[in-house]
Amino acid sequence: MTTTERQIYDLGEAPPLGVVPEKMYAQVIRQNRYGPPISGFAQETVPVPKLGPNDVLVYVMAAGVNYNGVWASLGMPIDLIRSHRQTGDGGDEVGFHIAGSDASGIVYAVGRDVENVKVGDEVVLHCGMWDKGEDQGSLSTSFKIWGFESNWGSFAQFTRVRSHQCLPKPKHLTWEEAACYMLVAATAYRMLASWAPHTVRKDDPVLIWGGSGGLGSMGIQVTKAMGGIPIAVVSNDERGKFCTDLGAAGYVDRTKFHHWGRLPDWSNEEAMTKAVLGFRAFGKAVWEILGERRNPRIVFEHSGQDTIPTSLFVCDSGGMVVICAGTTGYNADVDLRYLWMRQKRLQGSHFANTAESAAVNQMVIDGLIDPCLTKVLAFDEVGLAHQLLYENRHPNGNMAVLVGAPAPGMKTL
Ligand SMILES: NC(=O)c1ccc[n+]([C@@H]2O[C@H](COP(=O)([O-])OP(=O)(O)OC[C@H]3O[C@@H](n4cnc5c(N)ncnc54)[C@H](OP(=O)(O)O)[C@@H]3O)[C@@H](O)[C@H]2O)c1
Repeated sequence: MTTTERQIYDLGEAPPLGVVPEKMYAQVIRQNRYGPPISGFAQETVPVPKLGPNDVLVYVMAAGVNYNGVWASLGMPIDLIRSHRQTGDGGDEVGFHIAGSDASGIVYAVGRDVENVKVGDEVVLHCGMWDKGEDQGSLSTSFKIWGFESNWGSFAQFTRVRSHQCLPKPKHLTWEEAACYMLVAATAYRMLASWAPHTVRKDDPVLIWGGSGGLGSMGIQVTKAMGGIPIAVVSNDERGKFCTDLGAAGYVDRTKFHHWGRLPDWSNEEAMTKAVLGFRAFGKAVWEILGERRNPRIVFEHSGQDTIPTSLFVCDSGGMVVICAGTTGYNADVDLRYLWMRQKRLQGSHFANTAESAAVNQMVIDGLIDPCLTKVLAFDEVGLAHQLLYENRHPNGNMAVLVGAPAPGMKTL
């Protein structure tokens, strides 16, 4: 790495290409600040991380905002700083966490063995981190989500990633557009394209929870691009319109139903009947959108505890509920009768591998997927951005924060 006599550069003032200062500004989480994101993040000056042989140092132009930053700030359900200390992980035992699992930026330094990128390359980063030699993506034994399970995420002037995380930045996108989509897009792509035989086929109905959210907006577009029929679930008409504008065939407003949450015990006949009536009414709303009595072959899940009983009920016989999160809780009840008699599949899915990330990045490059950037914030608003997510008050689609980019709308340095 080339270093400079200047210890630190101002935000928005890029060091000369390849020059790496000793220190940087970062939005930092500490154990004594664990709590709501608005006060969980604070700007500090910290050292620029050192590189291992397969690492790349990226000057962050813009960073994407994801729900995992909310969990990181809360210190729940995992105390990440404690966990970084326990795993050691080459310098992650510094006593703080820099969150951020999405970014666009410029390569400023590369480790000894890096071959796929060089200083000056403009990149987007995928958040799947694993050791060299493992090629199982999120099934690798060393798998970590960069900026969540590993430190040195993107809410800082520089971030440290493994070289395989670097993909070409779509040239037609601004830095903030390029920063906002990869985590959710690659996750959605794996959920819909990688669990054969339950991949989206032409005219397959696909039910997408949180259709206007980060994951959901990508789920709608990937489904559409694969020839399926996306049907969104949302909590108001404005969010519903956002989904139909993106290509959804229609939307169900979940606030019109009241059967959410855990299942009653099967022996409580009255409560069970009430729950089943709720499932049926919800399923009927899906049929009305499709204009025929067809159930979704794939249900795209991440809301979890509140919605899994409904998802498993409305999923078609022989279909799949694919899930990557439990935003409303992890204790999701499965009525096994529907699972075995209707031969449905409940499939977990977690982020993606490099091939899946590259495939969805290519769909963005080809203009098949819009990043759905709807809000751009300043670097000192990282806490605010996550607070909006935490309170489900964020705008539709995805948010990004400007880091090195001095203004919105810029596509190169
Ligand atoms: N495993 C992975 O690789 C992976 C990757 C990406 C994200 N995730 C996780 O996936 C979850 C969603 O992420 P995101 O970025 O899409 O978040 P997001 O943008 O906040 O979207 C979540 C959506 O969930 C909906 N929702 C909220 N409460 C709900 C409820 N009680 N029932 C049904 N829907 C509800 C909201 O839409 P409405 O209120 O309009 O219904 C909201 O738009 C998070 O927990 C995140 O950590 C996991």
